[in-house]
Amino acid sequence: MYSYDLKCKTDPRWIKAVMSNFDAFLIDHAANERKASTLAMSMVVHYPDKDDIVREMIDLAMEEMAHFREVIKIMLKRGLQQIPDKTNFYIGSFMKAIRKDPKHYLLDRLLMFSIVEKRGAERFGLVGEALTEPKIKDFYQRLAAAEYRHYELFISLAHQYYNRKTVTARLEQLLQVEADIVKQCPFKAAVH
Ligand SMILES: [Fe+2]
Ligand SMILES: [Fe+2]
Repeated sequence: MYSYDLKCKTDPRWIKAVMSNFDAFLIDHAANERKASTLAMSMVVHYPDKDDIVREMIDLAMEEMAHFREVIKIMLKRGLQQIPDKTNFYIGSFMKAIRKDPKHYLLDRLLMFSIVEKRGAERFGLVGEALTEPKIKDFYQRLAAAEYRHYELFISLAHQYYNRKTVTARLEQLLQVEADIVKQCPFKAAVH
């Protein structure tokens, strides 16, 4: 299994911001799961000639949709509703670093998604640690494990379609891009 480390850890001030307004965090989190599902489906449409991508991305889209359903259930129990999507600084900035030409687009997207999933796994793990109510604590711990699997899925797909040297060199660059973005993100009750 391929693995790597993120270039920076999440600042403890982030989890403080999340726990101080957990309802706002849930609303943002739900939107993230829905968008993750949509992105996975966009890969299915974009790469009809790549069987493994089609197979894996349909599974992923369904799993992210199941996460969305679970977060929505928690929200509804708390009387919370979705709000219109806002532009996300983290994803928006990361997308700017993605090379759009056909030779590099797939590699950059696979690596970006892998890094985003790894950050998600880290942060849901922190949320799971911080929560005390057993049911929702367990949910976030399960979620951290799921997003960790997604991180592994994307990095192994990158290695499947590109040689090791190409993957490692670009991964190194995009990890630095992500770390720089994370450092610029304000601490708020949101996944990023
Ligand atoms: Fe998810
Ligand atoms: Fe995920």
